Amino acid sequence: MNIQEAYNSWADSYDDVQNKTRDLEAQAIRSLVPGGHFDEVIELGCGTGKNTEWLAARTTHLTAVDFSAEMLRRAQEKLQQPHITFHQADITQAWKFSRTPANLITCSLILEHIQDLNHVFAQASKALQPQGHFYIGELHPLKQYQGSKARFDTAAGGIFELECYVHHISDFTETARRHGFSCITLQEWFDDDDRTTTPRIVCFLFRREG
Ligand SMILES: C[S@@+](CC[C@H](N)C(=O)[O-])C[C@H]1O[C@@H](n2cnc3c(N)ncnc32)[C@H](O)[C@@H]1O
Repeated sequence: MNIQEAYNSWADSYDDVQNKTRDLEAQAIRSLVPGGHFDEVIELGCGTGKNTEWLAARTTHLTAVDFSAEMLRRAQEKLQQPHITFHQADITQAWKFSRTPANLITCSLILEHIQDLNHVFAQASKALQPQGHFYIGELHPLKQYQGSKARFDTAAGGIFELECYVHHISDFTETARRHGFSCITLQEWFDDDDRTTTPRIVCFLFRREG
C-alpha cells in the first residue's frame, strides 16, 4: 500500500481508535493559530476533518485539501457548509487549489509523509498573502528517533506502518527561512503536560515576510 491507499484504508477507523498524537495536535493548533477572523484559510491534509470545523468557524472561506478520497469523504459527510471547498489534491504537486491568496495555511500531521519540505514552503509562500501565517503541527522528531510513526490496525488484523520521513527541527526552521518566512512561535507538546517525558508534538507558527 502506498500512503494514499493506506489513508483510504485507515479512514474507516481513523476517528474511532485511541490516538494521542491526533488528539494532542488538536489542542496545539487551537492554542497556536492567531485569533481573529480570516478571509481565506487553506487546510492541507484535512483528513476526516478533525480541525476543519474549528477552522471553518474562523474564516469567510476554507479550502480543505487531501489526496485520500476516503478521508475527504468522511470530512465532507460531517461538514456540509457552503463556505468550505474540499479538494482532492496531492500537495507534492503544484498547488492548483488556491483560489485567492490566503491569510493562513495549516498543516497538521501530514509532513511526516512528505520528503521535500522545500516544495511545501515554496508553494506556501506563493499561496499566502504577505504577513500571512503558516501553522505546522507534526509528530516531534524526538518521537520519530525513538521509532514512532503513523500506523494503523488493518481490517485483516495486522498493523500497517506508513512510509514516513524524519524532518529535524532545523529542517523546518531553515527551509522556512530560505523561503522568506520568520518563525513566530515554536512549541513542544507533551503527553499529560509532563515535561519530563519526550515531547509528542512540535508545532510552529511561521509568518511570510515581504
Ligand atoms: C495523519 S492524517 C492527519 C489528518 C488531519 N490533519 C488530522 O490531524 O487528523 C494525514 C493526512 O494527510 C493526507 N496526506 C498525506 N500525504 C498527502 C499528500 N501528499 N497530499 C495531500 N494529502 C496528503 C492523508 O491522506 C491524511 O488524510
